[in-house]
Amino acid sequence: MDSSALHEEIDSFFDSAPPLKDCAKITDKLNQFIELNSPSSGEGKRRSVVCVTSGGTTVPLEQRCVRYIDNFSSGNRGAASTEYFIKAGYAVIFLYRRGTCQPYCGSLPEDPLLECFEFVDDFDIQVRQPHSEAVKGAIRDHHAAVAGGLLLKLPFTTIFEYLQMLRIIALSMRSLGPCAMFYLAAAVSDFYVPWKGMAEHKIQSASGPLDMRLMQVPKMLSVLRTEWTPKAFCISFKLETDSKILLEKASMALKKYKMHAVVANELLTRKEEVTVVTNNGNISVHRNKTRTDSDVEDPLVELLVDRHSAYIKDSST
Ligand code: PMT
Repeated sequence: MDSSALHEEIDSFFDSAPPLKDCAKITDKLNQFIELNSPSSGEGKRRSVVCVTSGGTTVPLEQRCVRYIDNFSSGNRGAASTEYFIKAGYAVIFLYRRGTCQPYCGSLPEDPLLECFEFVDDFDIQVRQPHSEAVKGAIRDHHAAVAGGLLLKLPFTTIFEYLQMLRIIALSMRSLGPCAMFYLAAAVSDFYVPWKGMAEHKIQSASGPLDMRLMQVPKMLSVLRTEWTPKAFCISFKLETDSKILLEKASMALKKYKMHAVVANELLTRKEEVTVVTNNGNISVHRNKTRTDSDVEDPLVELLVDRHSAYIKDSST
């Protein structure tokens, strides 16, 4: 597809999207966060800022949405990576799907509110002993990251919200030059129903089988890379279920979208290993199997932080 056709598709996607709720509020929060972590800020320290995207986007089938198509992602990768980036000294904009895994909550049970707390008497509640350390750790680390200006959390649900927010974030991170990084772990819908042609009310099953044409979501990776934040360090992800095509597809994405690296992962083994595909070759990254509490995000983020530092250094010479 040539560049003008892609721009037309992108414009048509944004023009047809329902306006983002709280757009002005989100932009304000973002600008304050970036300012706090910018070199020019008197108060804050100069930090690299990474936008971590996490969780799957939905595609509504009705404007008053009862049914939707979903993209698989628990949000575990994005949440765990956010913790490692903060540990490495980054400020993180965590763009996440509502209801998916959150940073610092990995050690909590599935239903923390009901499982971690109990009544002491008729009025007071306490943390149940087995969860005490996990709850204290989560609250302490989460609150420290937010209060320290190192974590800004922005939720999305639909593909329309995700892409509009990604564009706002990218445009506000532009001023950071090479200190900006994108870590695009979200699972993003490839097909959508344009808002304007979408049924307003619940589609009725009495009308027989559903015949619906989905449009292709324009890939925004190349405009993110070349127009929205041309100096940022950009990492995208490639998920496949067939290992035979994974690395080839990741290499294609690297070239086509001019990414600095593509993290290739297979659905079944994604928690054990990933391959970082770069122009200088592929690097296999594994979880440390000798430790039960280890994860693959730890060495992955370490490698990418290293590459990003070299990129910042190169950009300043
Ligand atoms: O959340 P977990 O359960 O821990 O799982 C993590 C993960 C498997 C979801 C994650 O590691 C991952 O692979 N995320 C990307 C999955 C995906 O959607 O791959 P894709 O081939 O469809 O897209 C490739 C890249 O293009 C992604 O970086 C995506 O952000 C981007 N994209 C995709 C579609 C689209 N229309 N526009 C995009 O920009």
